[in-house]
This record gives sequence, structure tokens and C-alpha cells, in this order.
Amino acid sequence: MCGIVGYTGDELAKDILINGLKRLEYRGYDSAGVALEDATGGVTRIDVIRRVGKVAGLESELAGVDAAATCGIGHTRWATHGRPSMANAHPHTSCDGRIAIVHNGIIENFAELREELAQRGHTFTSDTDTEVFAHLIEEAYYGCATGPVAGAAAGAAADMASGQATSAPAAPGCHDLMAAVREACTRVVGAYGLAAVCADEPGVIAVARKDSPIVIGRGARGSYVASDVIALIDATRDVVVLEDGQFARLAPEGITYTDAEGAPIEPTVTHIDWDIDMAEKGGYPDFMLKEICEQPRVVRDTLVGRMTGGELSIDELGLSLEELNLIDRVYVIACGTSYHAGLIAKNLIEMWARIPCEVEAASEFRYRNPIITPSTLVVAVSQSGETADTLAAIRDARIKGAKVFGITNVVGSPVARESDGVIYTKANKEIAVASTKSFIGQVVSLTLLALLLAQVKYRLTVGQVRMLFRELGDTAEQIQWILDTQKDAIHEAALACKDARSALFVGRGMGAAIANEGALKLKEISYLHAEAYAAGEMKHGPIALIDPGFPVIAIATKSPVYDKTVSNLKECEARGAKIVVVATEGDEDIAQIADHVIYIPPVRDTFSAITATVPLQLLAREVALMRGCDVDQPRNLAKSVTVE
Ligand code: G6P
Repeated sequence: MCGIVGYTGDELAKDILINGLKRLEYRGYDSAGVALEDATGGVTRIDVIRRVGKVAGLESELAGVDAAATCGIGHTRWATHGRPSMANAHPHTSCDGRIAIVHNGIIENFAELREELAQRGHTFTSDTDTEVFAHLIEEAYYGCATGPVAGAAAGAAADMASGQATSAPAAPGCHDLMAAVREACTRVVGAYGLAAVCADEPGVIAVARKDSPIVIGRGARGSYVASDVIALIDATRDVVVLEDGQFARLAPEGITYTDAEGAPIEPTVTHIDWDIDMAEKGGYPDFMLKEICEQPRVVRDTLVGRMTGGELSIDELGLSLEELNLIDRVYVIACGTSYHAGLIAKNLIEMWARIPCEVEAASEFRYRNPIITPSTLVVAVSQSGETADTLAAIRDARIKGAKVFGITNVVGSPVARESDGVIYTKANKEIAVASTKSFIGQVVSLTLLALLLAQVKYRLTVGQVRMLFRELGDTAEQIQWILDTQKDAIHEAALACKDARSALFVGRGMGAAIANEGALKLKEISYLHAEAYAAGEMKHGPIALIDPGFPVIAIATKSPVYDKTVSNLKECEARGAKIVVVATEGDEDIAQIADHVIYIPPVRDTFSAITATVPLQLLAREVALMRGCDVDQPRNLAKSVTVE
């Protein structure tokens, strides 16, 4: 979703901001902008330049601007309040344009604040929630609005309008940007990662954070802020992940950190050990293909160190074996692709550990009243570790007494920090919006968890766990085989699907869970409507959709329900469907009903999700490319969904 960058130092800010914004493009956005300090003529002003569309457009516009600024902030916006437009793009400014801010998150009480500020004479130029922040900072800084009501009277009006005891903006203003930002934050309800500049404090960037990520770093040539470490990793590998309620003041000569009262704090520095190469295409035409091809490595890396002395170990669980043994119910909570990893985990946990397991969209879980006891384990799965609904569900589950276990790809992310224990999926940075390698890392991690629960509950012997662990590791080579041999078959299948208006993905058992992820991938990146159905349910509705040429994509690998799935496909064949099957290598018979067959190596059914998903990822990518879509940055989608 939205992205923030900021720089102050002795280099040209515009280049650093544009490079940072380009690094953040993967998160998904619809407009971009920068605010640069302009000291021409001896008086500092703030110049704001914004564009709807890609950062490249903003870059071209900036190329024509002679901006000597060495301090500035930039933003990519994913529209929430107000459509994508120039006026709604960040940065937003105060009435007199001397303060500019960029903001990620949502201000829940923005409507009240806006009305109150308007009454005091503030003029608004956008539909965004963010803009109120700029005006609140302005009042705290200068002590008055540019309208008829001013100073202390304005503060009193604020208190009356909000009906709560808030501190009035100091008259004639604190004239300290950091203090003004702190003051403004006391009025705001919601989530924010915020960076502000002020023409009256050249070179200073004031930063605040609550429930929206902010990282800060000090490089050889200045101070940097961003909402994602990827935007500042060129400058430094030692970063401070700002905590909720912490503030930072960046200046060319250094950075100071304070708490909500303005008292100095000593921040924790985190060293980033992944390489920027991992966030670049490395010769592949797009990130999605690169990340699909990395999946064998993800399987291997996620398993490293998990079998020590012949025993499965997940030390980071944060739960003792006794506590694990008491678990009598599991909820997997997640969104999107991570939710589908949960569907696969349900099969494994119930089959091996015999513990009832429910999988719920985090956005639903948080507003239900699920049955949670101290013996409930909640497994929160999130690639980014910052999905707002998943975080809210974690908090709710913990309040209700559950143990929460996080599975995420991002070290130190909110999901990791707010869970009792965490497994990292070792996928490394995932850039393409549609998740691929993270999904595989999640399924492997959830499989380990299922094996551990089964072992602790004495449902599987140590020997059985060891054997299954070995087979789990074999899926790395099996994925490689698919990548090496099935390209042509997938291309042919994609040609058969590309002009369809809709497609059905079907399977049974594990295949039904995989079908969900196949359908999601296709619709996410090719904008072709796709739906997943348990194959046995076809005749209760979806079969009505089938007419000659309608694509049905089936997962029919060798499994206990193989024959049943084939029978369901025959019903589709009889109605003229175009059938694409993901089948087990060596299954020649399937060709009798399938128009196109994509093979995966023989694999135990329990592990088939790890391999059978790969051709579906590749199929979605091929179809999307044939339809002229941007596979890395699909329209309307964001990599990391930090709003509800
Ligand atoms: C967004 C992304 C999806 C992702 C989902 C959940 O919708 O576009 O690819 O699966 O969020 O994200 P998470 O980071 O929690 O796994």
C-alpha cells in the first residue's frame, strides 16, 4: 500500500526520493509525489510536485525542475479516502504551504477533526483523511489557523468540538516541528506512519509512528526515513524500526529519538542481512517469474535447522511441549494467499495431529466471537507481517486468552512482535504483489507445525515424523522438475484460457484447497474471473456455467480421491468444457478427458499442495502476459494491506 521516503543530508534529495519511491512501487499505489525544500532567493519554501500514475511520470516531471534541495519527503499513495487524483496525492500541506506531510494509515476521527479545523478557518484542498494532520501540525506550530479564529481561542474551540480534554495548541505556537507533530498526534485516532517538513526549519524531518511501519537509518551522506527498509538499504544496513508511540527528528547531522512526552530514548538498531540483489530481477523478465523460480530454495531454507539430533524442533514457538500438548483447537487466521496456506494446514493438522482446526479470514474472525480458551492455538499467517486485519485478529485472540503463533516472512514485523512465537518463512523479500514464494514458505512452515503437534500429541512417532520431513524436503527437487520440464505444456494451457471470460478451478481434498490459490492467482494478475470449487460440489450449481469451450482447471493428482475427481471431470467434458489438468507424471489415462495436461512428479498427497500450486502460478502468469497485464503490479492491489 502507501509508501513513505524522506531524506535530509548533503546530496540532492530529489534523486534519493525518486529511487526510494521506485523501490516502494511493488507495494501497489495509484499516485506519487514529493515535497522539496526550496531555498532559492534566500527564503525557504516547500515545493510540492505530485502525479497520478507511476513514479516514472513524477520522475519525468522532476527532471525538468531545477531542484537543489537536500531535504525532502516523498510518497506513493494507494487510495482509501478519495479517488486517485492530483489533489488527493501526498504530500499534503498546511494552509500557507509551509508545512508538508506524507502519511500512511487511516485517521479514524478525520471527519470531526476536519469540521473542527474548517470552523477555525482552515482550507482543505483534498478529500483525504491525511490532510487534517497537516493542519493540526500547523496549529501546533504557529498557534493559529489562517482563518478568523486564532490562537488559544482555536484550542478552546477544539476542546469543545471534540468534547474531550485535549491540550489546546499553544499560542503563539511552539515553533518546533517535532513538538508540533507530537501535539498533533494527541488529537488523532487511528494509524499513522508520518513524516513532516517545515519551511521554517530547513533540513528537519519530523517522524511519528502508530500501527504503521517506519524505518530510519543514518548513512554516510545524511539521514533517511522510509516505510519499508527496501527504500533505504542502499544507504545503510543498520536501521531503527520505530516502535508505536516513538518519534524521530532527522537532521543532516544526526537523528534524535523521543517518546510521546518528548523524553529522549535509545532506539534498538536492527542489522539487515539480506541483499538488495534479492529485491532485483536478476535477469528475469519480471519479479513474479523470479520469485516462482526461487521456490526450491525457499523449501530448503525453511527446513534448515529444523531436524536436530533426529528430532523436529521449532524453538521459536514460544510454547513449551507441555503447553503444546494441551492444545485442543487451532484457528488459522490470515488473508488472501496466506488464507489459502491455512486451508492446506487444516488438512494436515486434522489428519496428523487430530486437533480440530478452523481457517478464517482475519477480517471476519476479528468481528465474530470465536470460541477461544487458554488451550486454543491461533496461528496468524501473513507474508508481510503487517496486514491490518490479521494484526487486529491477533490482538483480539490474545485478549481472549489464546496463544498466538505467527508465520511471517518479515523479521521484526508487527505480526512477529505481537505473537507469542514466530516461524520465519525464509522466502526473502517478495516484490511481486501476487504472492508465490511466500505461499510455499508458509505451507512448508505450517507443515512443520502440523508435524510437531502430531509428535507432541503422540499421533505420529518420531520415526514417522523423520520420514515425512525427508519427503517434505524432496519437494524442492520436485518443484525444480516442474520448472524445468512443464513450460511448454503450461504455455499451451494458457493459450486455451486466455480469451475466456471466466474459469473454474476444481479439485477434491488437498486439490480443493489448491484450487483456491490457483483461482486467486489467475484473477489477481490476469483480471480473468476465476472461481474455485470442490469438484464434488460442481453439480450443485457451477456446472450450469459450463458451455462449450469453458475452461475447467482441475487438480487431479494421484490421491485417494483421484477417481472421484476424474468422474467430476467427465461431467464437465460431457458439456464441452475445455479441461486443463494438473496430474501426476506417468498418468497417461488422464489425457483421454483432458485437453491439456501439466504434470507434477509423484508426491505424497499431503505434500501435493507444495508442488501442484507451482504450475498454477505459472499458468496465471502466462495468461496475464498474453492478456497484456502487468504481472508484478496488478491494478487496484497492494502488496501489504495496512488498512482495514
Ligand atoms: C494482499 C496481497 C496478497 C496477500 C494478502 C495478505 O491482498 O495482494 O498477495 O496474500 O494481502 O497479505 P499478508 O501479507 O498478510 O500475507
